[in-house]
Formats: sequence, structure tokens, C-alpha cells
Amino acid sequence: MRPNQVIAEIVKDENMPATRIEVNIADEKPYDVRIGSQVLDNLGDWCCRIPSITQAPQALVITDSNVEPLYLARAKDSLVRAGYKTSDVVIGAGEASKCIDVASEIWEAMAGLGLTRDCFVVALGGGVVGDLAGFVASTFMRGIKVVQVPTTLLSMVDSSVGGKTGINLSAGKNLVGTFCQPSYVCASTDTLHTLPEREWRCGCAEVAKSAAICSDDFFFWLLDQAGAMAARDEAVVTEAIARCVVFKADIVAQDKTESKGVRECLNYGHTLAHAIEKMSGYGVYSHGAAVAEGMRFAMQMASEMLGTSKEFADTQAQLLDELGLVRLGWKANPEEVLNVMKRDKKARGGQVRFVLPLDVGKWKLMDVDDAAIIDALDKWMCE
Ligand code: NAD
Ligand code: GLY
Repeated sequence: MRPNQVIAEIVKDENMPATRIEVNIADEKPYDVRIGSQVLDNLGDWCCRIPSITQAPQALVITDSNVEPLYLARAKDSLVRAGYKTSDVVIGAGEASKCIDVASEIWEAMAGLGLTRDCFVVALGGGVVGDLAGFVASTFMRGIKVVQVPTTLLSMVDSSVGGKTGINLSAGKNLVGTFCQPSYVCASTDTLHTLPEREWRCGCAEVAKSAAICSDDFFFWLLDQAGAMAARDEAVVTEAIARCVVFKADIVAQDKTESKGVRECLNYGHTLAHAIEKMSGYGVYSHGAAVAEGMRFAMQMASEMLGTSKEFADTQAQLLDELGLVRLGWKANPEEVLNVMKRDKKARGGQVRFVLPLDVGKWKLMDVDDAAIIDALDKWMCE
């Protein structure tokens, strides 16, 4: 990449009523993210314009059992209109499908369908489909192209961009995976109309997370628009997705493989969130609800340990409340929470790591000692 080259920028596209973002990550092929109502119906046209897949003999659409009846026909029709031979695999909806058995079934199906290295995969669905389809694509025949078509808010603002793919093991989530940047991301905001409220809020938590660690401009814009965001206002949602994509692309460009202590900022709120999800049983609280709780907890720690202002803490609390991400009232034994945190894959050398907010758009990655975590959890559980 040239020095000073823009990582991600919003480009007005006169021929399309959509927002287009060009993502340029060093040593990777640049790719576009298109965000807008109905862009799903132009999926095939845009795939045709991507040199690496223009001539692809076949596109395999991977989706889940909830998304299939809603959007599979539209995706396939668009690909067929553009001249692609198209087939599909439908997995069961839910996190349980992100496993080696389902990955293996898909690899077998790919081989059975005669997919070759010049074919591509289309991941149509939320983060589960995106991570799994990205994983099978990046490993089948040592790697074929993948186009991400996210249909949840979380997957539009986070998982479809940045190239992390993966499956879960019984020992933990996302323990096996690859880095594989997509060839194109097609975020059709009309698909969000069918998203259940719980999933909507999940995505809102990731938007709030990005805004808090990104900049004043994003954070205070979101605070102003929180009511419209909660009501799924089309223009506000489109802008929120675009802002998240630009922010995430910039972070990924600085630290593509999460080895430089930069990409870890995207884990803001996730240290406690992972413990809440694991200890209460996956699915009891949504991931987003747990992330929001984790953001509040990290903020409390930052106030005490780093002097982060009460004003920022109160404003973040207001933002989360307005997005419908209220305090959970979750209680657990602090010693047990600490033990779960220590076993998380994000822990390093037995030390629990937190992303602590210093101010809007400023954060610090910190290994916090056990006594300080217990102390903070004690206070948290008493509130
Ligand atoms: P999900 O994929 O399970 O989708 C949530 C639910 O919504 C599912 O039941 C799904 O069938 C349904 N659904 C999807 N789109 C719909 C639509 N338009 N209308 C109605 N229902 C719809 O969950 P998610 O929250 O999108 O993603 C979570 C996954 O993403 C986790 O596995 C997580 O590990 C992963 N993730 C990955 C990254 C990354 O960088 N790769 C980042 C964050 C999260
Ligand atoms: N969602 C965290 C990451 O992509 O790094």
C-alpha cells in the first residue's frame, strides 16, 4: 500500500442509491462494502465486477434455516441473472452450527458440487454463517474467495469486515479459524426489517462499543441519534453501519492479525461479557446485552484505576440505556468470575486483560491484577 493511502472511505456512487466504502488493507486486495436498501438484488452485478470472481464458474450460497426462507431466493436470483451457476447449503440457525461437523459437511458438499478453486462462496446470514462460511471457503482447496452478505446488524457492523473466520470447539468459542478478507461485502439494510428485537440490540451494543472507542464525532453523533437507531430509522442505521465499517477497517489495517495490541480495542466490554455468557449459559443473555454490561464494568474500572471522567461514564450509560441495553442485574461469585476470565482465550500468561476507556476515542489495553479485579467485581455485584 502507498504511504498515506486512505484505508476506508465513503464514496458516493452516482449509479447506485447506496453507500460504498472502499477498504484498502496492506497486502490484501482492496474490497468494497455496499450498504443500502435492496443492494441484495444487485449482488450478482457487483460480483461480476470483481476481477477475481468475474469468471467464476459457480457460486455456492451458504445460509441458515431462518434466513433461507427470507432471502435465499433473492440472493440466488441476482447471481443467476448475472450469469453464475448457483447452488446452496442451508445450515441450522444458531451458534451450534459453528462447529467442525457442520464445516466438514459443507466441505463434502463443496467437493460433491464440483467446486473448483475459481468458484466462490457467498455467506448469506449473520455472524454465525459469516464466520463458518468464511472458514470453509478459506480452507477448501487451500482457499477460495468469499463474499459476505450480512443480514444482522452485528454482522454488518462487525463480523463481515476484517477477515476473522472461525468455528467453536467444546473448549471454547472461535478457537479454530483463519484470517481471510472478503472479496466484497453486501449489506442490504432492508433485510434488517425482519431481525428480532433481541438481535437488533445485540448489534446496537457493537455500534455503541465502536463509537465509544472511535471518536468524539461518532460517539456524540450516536448519542444524538440513539432514539432513531433504536427505532431502526433507515438513514441513521445506514450511517451507523458505514461509520462502524470505516472505523473497523482502519483498526484492522493497523493490526490485521491482532498481534500489535491495536485490534484488541474491539474487545471493549468483552472481557466481562464472555464470563457472563459462559457462566449464565450461552443464550440466556444475548451477546450484545453482555457486551453492554461489560462496557459499563470496564468504565467503572477505568474510573477507579485511570481517573476516567464521571461525565464520560454517565454519557456512555445514557447511550446504552437509550439503545435499550439496560443493566442486567447479573450476580455471581467474584472469585468464580475471575477464574472464568483467566481461562478465556483473550487472557495472556494467566493475566486478565481489559480494554479500559480513558476518554471518548481513547483507550488503554491493561493486564489487571487479580486483587483489583476481585475488588471491582465486589463493588459491581453490590450495585
Ligand atoms: P447469528 O448469525 O446467530 O444471527 C442471529 C439470529 O438471527 C439467528 O437466529 C439468525 O438465523 C437470525 N437472522 C439472521 N439474519 C436475520 C434476518 N435478517 N431476519 C431474521 N432473522 C435473522 O448471530 P450474529 O449476532 O449475527 O453473529 C454472532 C456470531 O458472530 C458469533 O458466532 C460471533 O462469534 C461472531 N462474531 C464474529 C466476529 C468476527 O470478526 N468474525 C465479530 C463479532 C462476532
Ligand atoms: N470482532 C473483533 C475483531 O474482529 O477483531
